[in-house]
Amino acid sequence: MAQDSHPIRVRPALESIATYKPGKGRPGRVRKLSSNENPFPPLPQVVDAIAGMADSVNRYPDMIAAPLIERLAEHHGVDADRITVGNGSCSLIAHLLQAVATEGDEIVMPWRSFEAYPILVGITGARAVEVPLTPAFEHDPHGLAQAVTEHTRAVLLCTPNNPTGTPLSAEAFEAIMASVPSDVLVLLDEAYYDFDDSPGRLDGFALVEKYPNLIAARTFSKAYGLCGLRVGYAVSSPFIAECIRKTTPPFAVNSAAQAAAIEALNHRDVVDQQVATIIAERDALVAAVRQRGFDVPETRANFLWFPGERARDAIVAACERHAISVRAFPDGVRVSVGAPDDNQAFLDAIADIDPAAL
Ligand SMILES: Cc1ncc(COP(=O)(O)O)c(C=O)c1O
Repeated sequence: MAQDSHPIRVRPALESIATYKPGKGRPGRVRKLSSNENPFPPLPQVVDAIAGMADSVNRYPDMIAAPLIERLAEHHGVDADRITVGNGSCSLIAHLLQAVATEGDEIVMPWRSFEAYPILVGITGARAVEVPLTPAFEHDPHGLAQAVTEHTRAVLLCTPNNPTGTPLSAEAFEAIMASVPSDVLVLLDEAYYDFDDSPGRLDGFALVEKYPNLIAARTFSKAYGLCGLRVGYAVSSPFIAECIRKTTPPFAVNSAAQAAAIEALNHRDVVDQQVATIIAERDALVAAVRQRGFDVPETRANFLWFPGERARDAIVAACERHAISVRAFPDGVRVSVGAPDDNQAFLDAIADIDPAAL
């Protein structure tokens, strides 16, 4: 993007921001395993709740989604004044970062991690300080601590980490919190929390009282299967929550999305069954690819990470031939866990690849 090609002057920070690229493929034409979506269709009760809002869309939604916040407070056993919602957790994170950082500041993050982070940081004008994951694709507590300077305004943590699937252990988390100054915000991004069945799984919502500088963010996009509606939520100190309300544009979560999210919470038992099915599919997929010789790290999310450029090229080419969309990155490829027939199609697609030859 070149400023000299257009007369309107924009902020110099935009020069260095890449445009977010979504996972390719429309369901129906290809098997979409590129966006970590929930393969189950929305629950009928959720569809009814969305339809039920149709005749009142001439009215604005509840400004701060108070009924949804009340329901989340009840569901998670946290005070409502600690909860914020946003137009997807991506927007919530953007507004959070706008509250703490600007030009000249730094935001520390593990890398590779969620590809939106550098973009969201770039929008604030702050500099993204990327700390490499360990060779086991885990957050590096020492490296993150070393990267924190007087300019640091936030540290981003992602568990399980996108795109590697690796969870952050409680021990590593505590070490990071001990090394980050108490006036620096720490975001624990738990977008894939529900798929994390690791023993001693971190629970950010239970930790915010202990750490006033911590905020934990989750989403209705993954386990709840509502990514098309865009609802994210976070738990923090009431002060941080108030700051996010200030930076969030009015009426961020639309009325259909609010109604659908409340209804999805009312059917948490079905969501749990779906999550259990996805976890079982994931574990079977991991076992199958490892048996074939692929070296994939432990994943506690709804996706698998195949590290390495050669593995990426071979898998992307095979999937293209079989009309399966996966997510390629410079250093590997991420494959979402889909419906059982999608997962089998993926295994069939990569059947001819010899990992030893890569
Ligand atoms: C780690 C992580 N955080 C946040 C998000 C954003 O989710 P949403 O904006 O749909 O709530 C994603 C989406 O893929 C993600 O992978």
